[in-house]
Amino acid sequence: MATKVKGGKKAVVRGGKSLAGRRTAAKKVEPARGKLGVMVVGMGAVATTMIAGVEAIRRGLAKPVGSLTQMGTIRIGKRTDNTSPFIKDFVPLADLNDIVFTGWDIFEDNVYEAAAHAQVLKPEILKKLKPYLETIKPMPAVFDDYYVKRLHGTHVKKGKNKLDLAQQVMADIRAFKKKVNRVVMIWCGSTEIFMEPTAVHQSIGAFEKGLEKSDIAIPSSQIYAYAALKEGVPFANGAPNLTVDIPAMVELSKKNAAPICGKDFKTGQTFMKTVLAPAFKARMLGVNGWFSTNILGNRDGEVLDEPQSFKTKEESKLGSLEYIFQPDLYPDLYSDIYHKIRINYYPPRGDEKEAWDNIDIFGWLGYPMQLKVNFLCRDSILAAPIALDLVLFLDLAKRAPGLRSLGIQEWLSFYLKSPQSAPGLYPEHDLFIQSMKLKNTLRHIMGADLITHLGLEYYD
Ligand SMILES: NC(=O)c1ccc[n+]([C@@H]2O[C@H](COP(=O)([O-])OP(=O)(O)OC[C@H]3O[C@@H](n4cnc5c(N)ncnc54)[C@H](O)[C@@H]3O)[C@@H](O)[C@H]2O)c1
Repeated sequence: MATKVKGGKKAVVRGGKSLAGRRTAAKKVEPARGKLGVMVVGMGAVATTMIAGVEAIRRGLAKPVGSLTQMGTIRIGKRTDNTSPFIKDFVPLADLNDIVFTGWDIFEDNVYEAAAHAQVLKPEILKKLKPYLETIKPMPAVFDDYYVKRLHGTHVKKGKNKLDLAQQVMADIRAFKKKVNRVVMIWCGSTEIFMEPTAVHQSIGAFEKGLEKSDIAIPSSQIYAYAALKEGVPFANGAPNLTVDIPAMVELSKKNAAPICGKDFKTGQTFMKTVLAPAFKARMLGVNGWFSTNILGNRDGEVLDEPQSFKTKEESKLGSLEYIFQPDLYPDLYSDIYHKIRINYYPPRGDEKEAWDNIDIFGWLGYPMQLKVNFLCRDSILAAPIALDLVLFLDLAKRAPGLRSLGIQEWLSFYLKSPQSAPGLYPEHDLFIQSMKLKNTLRHIMGADLITHLGLEYYD
């Protein structure tokens, strides 16, 4: 029996091959050498909570609660093998000490000032981190208030057209690449107005022509994403914006081996939905109605108070139930669900969002029942570890030959309200299927056996 001690905890490795032995199959995943540069678009509540949190963890001031990459384990082999290393010991992830942050915002505030403004973290902790946080100053942003109507930025780039703006972002990326070994970009910016794909989104060529003509169908988020993918940089999208969910970006992502994934961090209410809905379905309990309402008072809440940005969020939040319940397969149970989502801007609550769900279900012989969920959450406290995990896993995907050229990383659906999947394939929303898919992907790239949970061999 061997024991590995990491982070004060023991990961026990019993019987069978040692962890090192299993890793021989993993030669192909490149190691995480040197510094990982993280370029954050939008340095508001989520971004500053992630950055300050990473620094607090690096200094031993806090634990990375909520982060699967930092706290999660993965079972390898049979249940009787008792081999459950930490994920960060099983796959070669960047170490938190090797992360270097930079980013863009439409306001000039450094990360300390932006974090103080967001009022997510307590002043005591922010004060301790102040000297570090003050050193991170956002670069001027690509921004147009046509796409985010409630914000009016002052710290923005100027360019003759959208292609020029994209080239300026590429120049920012190239300059940062000189200071670090690898780069990942993550959108933690605001929710843009609702947009649907148009002709300009259908191919790289059409998109590039659109950039030159400053086509109105190309919002700021797509300018950043295009710049990232052109530079071979993986891109994650924390907002429900259309951004990379278009054929042109999928094509570019594959072409330049720059991984992408779905959109909109799955934090509070939708996280709960994708846990409860699979439970009802697993037991064949019917659903008549699902009424979801929220109050929140941060800047995100203010942006979402604007109908066109709300529509983008609403669409993202609505999708999960339809896919999980599969009403076409179960018309008696799920074909007639009244699903309603409300988000109200309520300043007194700040980032401490409150969500209520009233769920009308029915059971044996159609007898009705109700379930009420009242989640008093902290929006950015839930989102920050998700943002960190996405960054670390996208960097891993870029170093994994079996993943990087696939474009869409469906295994990261676990973190997102709107998973992205191959054309013609429905997205998987069930949190437990997503979790299995994620862990099996890690086993797969490391050459370990997949876990099917069949388990007949224990009874032979
Ligand atoms: N907090 C959560 O739980 C959660 C969950 C899911 C999704 N999200 C999404 O994540 C995003 C960030 O949330 P937040 O609470 O940090 O919001 P926030 O308003 O505090 O921060 C967004 C920041 O982005 C900046 N910004 C807007 N457009 C920009 C651009 N074009 N370029 C650069 N910067 C830009 C804003 O100035 C602001 O500082 C939002 O879109 C939100 O909907 C948040």
